[in-house]
Amino acid sequence: MKKHLKQLIAVAMAALLVMPAPALAAEVRIVAGAVGKDLEFLREELDRFSAQTRHSAEIVSMPAGTTDQFAQYNLWLAAGASDIDVYQVDVIWAPQLGSHLVDLKSAMGGEMRDFFPSIVESQTVDGRLVAVPLFTDAPVLYYREDLLNKYNKRPPQTWEEMTQTAREIMQAERAAGNDKMWGFVFQGNAYEGLTCDALEWIKSHGGGQIVEPDGSISVNNANAAKALTLAKSWVNDISPPGVLTYQEEEARGVWQLGEAVFMRNWPYAYSLGQSGDSKVRGKFNVTKLPHGGGKSAATLGGWNLAVSKYSENKDAAVELVKFLTNHDAQKRRAIALTHLPTRPALYDDADVAAAAPFFKGMVDTFLTAVPRPSAPTKRKYNEVSKAFWTAAHKTLSGDGSAEENLADLESKIKRIRGRAW
Ligand code: GLC
Repeated sequence: MKKHLKQLIAVAMAALLVMPAPALAAEVRIVAGAVGKDLEFLREELDRFSAQTRHSAEIVSMPAGTTDQFAQYNLWLAAGASDIDVYQVDVIWAPQLGSHLVDLKSAMGGEMRDFFPSIVESQTVDGRLVAVPLFTDAPVLYYREDLLNKYNKRPPQTWEEMTQTAREIMQAERAAGNDKMWGFVFQGNAYEGLTCDALEWIKSHGGGQIVEPDGSISVNNANAAKALTLAKSWVNDISPPGVLTYQEEEARGVWQLGEAVFMRNWPYAYSLGQSGDSKVRGKFNVTKLPHGGGKSAATLGGWNLAVSKYSENKDAAVELVKFLTNHDAQKRRAIALTHLPTRPALYDDADVAAAAPFFKGMVDTFLTAVPRPSAPTKRKYNEVSKAFWTAAHKTLSGDGSAEENLADLESKIKRIRGRAW
């Protein structure tokens, strides 16, 4: 009997030794900036994640502006901080932050075949998948369909046409007592968002893309000057003087109060504009951005999820990245927040199409969108972008002409480049 008991214990111990240890529940920390209702949505998704796994997840929230986020993330990562496990990173940052981020290629495996290859490519640095695409972004021109119909106007094709239509409707509405009405709101603050807007004006005037894919510096040219000069003419005419401090959310604020005929913004403003408390609900539509004689240009945006090399919870962090970027989570995100999915299959989904009827037409827009020069300028992108948005902001503010500011910008970018990128 005694011998039998001993044998039993030995067998039980051996079984314990070969059984895989259950993964310990981890607490994953994800850092994200947000516009609109992004963070409320993320919180709900994290609760779902916790219910499905044994991990808990906490949000570390950042300011909405990508420029502010970048500065903070850079500090944390350069210091090797282990406090953050998952970073929500902008599409432009991969070359600059990549060396601090885990290669997710083998963890994601064959699943990456279900994403748009070009977006996956944008997050691949030296063959390493440094972040998984969460949503992509390309801007649209929001227009007040009710007002365009009232004044018998069509959605504008060119920036000049937009300027005229905006001015005419604004003046007529003001004369009719609607004295807060403006023509056009956009992102005129000195930050990364202005780089996106000004790149669109310049590219669609045939003025190139600041630094070309081969690394050559093209920004100092007559078409670029023409584009910036036109944009300068908007300030205090069809655009409020305050536009020089607007980021995405300030522009949306004016628009959603019903105080602008046109707005340049990303798709997220669509669901918010159609929500219950919006004054423009049911009154607006979206179309391609106008062009300046060339072709309409949309700057490629988007956000991705990365795991920090310094995380102490890497397995759980990877699980969270997989969860948030999976088909169902992206579907919920597309419907709730009108953020563009990074999985082609969702553009054929009837529920997504019902929530965002314009999504189908966006595929071509983001697949042919103009990238900011973060690939050719490599680790120096942020400096280049800052020099560019500063030149654009100075021009909009009347501090120097477009020609002067672009000539100065060209020498600054040359200095930043040095001998080679
Ligand atoms: C949007 C884009 C992002 C861009 C930012 C600029 O969030 O997705 O790529 O950098 O706007 O403000």
